[in-house]
Amino acid sequence: MNILAIETSCDETAISIIATEENSRKKSVTILANVVISQIEIHKPYGGVFPALAKREHAKNLVPVLAQALKKSGMLQEKTTENISEEKQTGLSSLLEREPELLAALSDFIPATKTPNIDYIAFTQGPGLPPALWVGLNFARALALLWNKPLIPVNHMEGHLFSSLVNGKENIPQEMQNPKLPTLALLISGGHTEIVLMKDLFQYEVVGTTRDDAVGEAFDKAARILGLPYPGGPEISKRAANFRNGGKIANGKYKLPRPMLRSDDFDFSFSGIKTAVLYMVQKIEEMTEEIREEICYEFEEAAAETLISKTLRAAEKYDPKTILMGGGVSANSHLQEIFKKTFQENFPDAEISIPEKDCSTDNALMIAIAGYLRALHDPKSILSPDSEKVREMQADGNLAL
Ligand code: KG4
Ligand code: ZN
Repeated sequence: MNILAIETSCDETAISIIATEENSRKKSVTILANVVISQIEIHKPYGGVFPALAKREHAKNLVPVLAQALKKSGMLQEKTTENISEEKQTGLSSLLEREPELLAALSDFIPATKTPNIDYIAFTQGPGLPPALWVGLNFARALALLWNKPLIPVNHMEGHLFSSLVNGKENIPQEMQNPKLPTLALLISGGHTEIVLMKDLFQYEVVGTTRDDAVGEAFDKAARILGLPYPGGPEISKRAANFRNGGKIANGKYKLPRPMLRSDDFDFSFSGIKTAVLYMVQKIEEMTEEIREEICYEFEEAAAETLISKTLRAAEKYDPKTILMGGGVSANSHLQEIFKKTFQENFPDAEISIPEKDCSTDNALMIAIAGYLRALHDPKSILSPDSEKVREMQADGNLAL
């Protein structure tokens, strides 16, 4: 089957197309296209993602990203005849009435292009920024209507969960289609910090979560306090690595707290570390790059230690067969290193899985994979474009339903 997936939950406009094969001899997934347009540069001046701007950029980018993804997968075929039927045009205009620019672009694109060989359209239903999610949802509905294809709504965090099983390779191994259970996932992004237990495929229990800021949000806020640009995660990580690689040793002057490290649960708190950075920076008379590097190092150490120690304790309780990470913060090299080391040492029989860098941050490949697994194992998540469920569909998402 061929799946086209759309992701617009935050500041990346992404479309991916995968082709899968299921016969008795072989099961395989091939990545035909994985296109991502990042809006980072646009949001940088605001120090974070500005939702109205994100929505506008998605509306502008979706048709060009679609064209690029179809072209990459060899599915972009021009045609000169046949306009959109009057009935479909009315449906399309009503779906995209709040996105005139997107409506115009799609109304130009569709009649000029043959219906691609796609079986399902997967898209991120949530969680994410509501204005951004709605554009993707309506766009997915519009394509489903125009091409008469079924839809598969996907939870963004479920996408992050399966992204480590993909590893961004050209061909995806068969094991990913059946992760060993129970699976324990540390999902860490700009909006979420969760330890999720998957006992059965698609049966999720969030066993730990943040009480305040998400860890990615704390990275971004701490970076801002240190005068570093958005997104803060890679900026902090770069400086922490400089400190470590320079053979420097922290002298304790810039020590940061590890909130809730010893609490009797699997929950986190990150706003305290961020506030500690703020008070620390306020007391520094002259900030130098050396001091900044040491604080970045300390911050990364504090965040990683908290994340790993809570995940380890959860793993000790639930004895998982697969232990994985997902989400933008899992791109952090230091965290990856100690994640691998800790779980390989303590759970030598478990499968340890970490996404490749471009699969950690938001992308549509992970949505395609989650959609594929849903199509294979959960037929009720496949929705006909004119079904009542689709007509009433809202942009939101709770993983542990
Ligand atoms: O998953 P993601 O792309 O978007 C959301 O779903 O939120 O995650 C974005 C977050 C940002 O907070 C960003 O600072 C963080 O991931 N991030 C990192 C790194 N790369 C991205 N945090 C720490 N180290 C990194 N290398
Ligand atoms: Zn994400």
